[in-house]
Amino acid sequence: MANQDKINNLIELRTKAKLGGGIDRIEKQHAQGKLTARERIELLLDEGSFEELDMFVTHRCTNFGMENSKFLGDGVVTGHGTIDSRIVYVYAQDFTVFGGSLSETLAQKICKVMDMAMKVGAPIIGINDSGGARIQEGVNSLAGYAEIFQRNIMASGVIPQISAIFGPCAGGAVYSPALTDFIMMTEENSYMFVTGPKVVKTVTNEDITVADLGGADVHTSKSGVAHFKVATEEEGLMMIRKLVSYLPQNNMEEAPVFSNGDPIDRLDDALNTIVPDNSNLPYNMKEVIFSLADDGEFLEVHRNYAKNIITGFCRMDGQSVGVVANQPNYLAGVLDCAASRKAARFVRMCDAFNIPLLTLVDVPGFLPGSAQEYAGIITEGAKLMFAYGEATVPKVTITLRKSYGGAHDVMSCKQLRGDFNYAWPQAEIAVMGAAGAIEVIEGRAISKITDEAERLAYLQKKTAEYNEAFANPYNAASFGYIDDVIEPRNTRFRVIRAFQNLQTKKVVNPPKKHSNIPL
Ligand code: HXC
Repeated sequence: MANQDKINNLIELRTKAKLGGGIDRIEKQHAQGKLTARERIELLLDEGSFEELDMFVTHRCTNFGMENSKFLGDGVVTGHGTIDSRIVYVYAQDFTVFGGSLSETLAQKICKVMDMAMKVGAPIIGINDSGGARIQEGVNSLAGYAEIFQRNIMASGVIPQISAIFGPCAGGAVYSPALTDFIMMTEENSYMFVTGPKVVKTVTNEDITVADLGGADVHTSKSGVAHFKVATEEEGLMMIRKLVSYLPQNNMEEAPVFSNGDPIDRLDDALNTIVPDNSNLPYNMKEVIFSLADDGEFLEVHRNYAKNIITGFCRMDGQSVGVVANQPNYLAGVLDCAASRKAARFVRMCDAFNIPLLTLVDVPGFLPGSAQEYAGIITEGAKLMFAYGEATVPKVTITLRKSYGGAHDVMSCKQLRGDFNYAWPQAEIAVMGAAGAIEVIEGRAISKITDEAERLAYLQKKTAEYNEAFANPYNAASFGYIDDVIEPRNTRFRVIRAFQNLQTKKVVNPPKKHSNIPL
């Protein structure tokens, strides 16, 4: 073959590989409202930055006549490119080739980019759209999954791992995304479950649809398995770009700083009045976050799950900051099992990737009751406490209003190595609220008063005394548990100054194989 023919042959092979399972299957994919693997990668990465690897890999299976059915690339597109000029590795399962099902060679392709991402210290983004284990390959496919799982585990806390679910993700295949840092799902076409509706029906006789069993709504609001729900793949891919901008390349680096000109000393008078005079009334903590963040931008993580706590990323003076905040607008911002677990995972992720933590506290306590106790609120709450206590990143805590009991300790208090703990003048930092406290400490005295009016007057007097003594930040500040009481409108400036101060913070935990966080 002449040289030019060889080159033409290469071009032909490339063109063929880029068609995956062929035009008909691509059209079927489009008809379902789904993009192809390559279209997804193109949108995700900086224009023209994608370099594909292993385009000529084909499967080696000879069962069921498979040797006669081969496609270049074998069901997954892999390679690297850039997002905002920073390197990322990607793989996108190609549903047009055997339904994106996982063969031995397909697994090897994914493992190769995972290994490369680890070697160079760059995030790995996986786009899932697959019928699961390639049935014709049997146990080799299971082994392939396990190779990926093991790499997910080793990469955890070393490089950011992001999973998009843009199609089916079922059976054991769900465990690779589950091992990663973030999962995103599309509203219409994606689902995740360990066993599908047919098996569910056979085993438990339950009739359930795919969406009700494992759709995006279920996993972003009920199970908490997924962190982001998006209407379209395009929206999802843009959101992944944004997410990556808040993260460092790996655990040895800091997240990039994007200076944006928002003045660090910008005052916001609205914060002085955002907390209602009646401390039983709610307000929207998100307004506080928008006010503090550079340009009011906040990327919320787990927006629809355990809404009583807010987690997400913002920038302050250009620096990436992880925000954890109680939400008085939802269940009064109480800490329950789901909220504790959600926040604990977020805190640990930030700590793993050197992202400073801003904690905004307005918490009436842990949710009481048998349902929570049976669900293990002790262990779940301990997770959040553990996560904060273990974290060595800069930690700034602002107590806006309530901070009661165990929840006070858990929410990044001074003794859990909070670096700067500030409070607003409205803060109430105590063992419990006045009503509960008076009932306990004055119960005997109150029960002896028979006259109703007299009883009420006594109750009011004691409540006022309690509030005077404890429903304020100064009691905690007098012990040094609160470093300063600050004017709400000046919070942004104080937080940024605190983080600037903490840039050289060095805290190292004692050497150990690993901790034993109460899982
Ligand atoms: C081989 C597969 C496949 C699979 C789909 N295909 N899944 N090939 N192994 N697992 C092929 C189909 O034969 C078809 O080939 C093409 O992909 C598209 O599939 P369709 O069925 O036409 O697509 P659709 O109607 O959209 O249905 C998608 C689907 C369905 C719901 C995912 O394909 C399906 O139920 N597949 C089987 C899912 C499954 O049971 N997987 C094993 C799970 S157990 P042609 O040539 O016609 O285009 C598992 C264990 C993992 O994954 C354990 C890890 C530890």
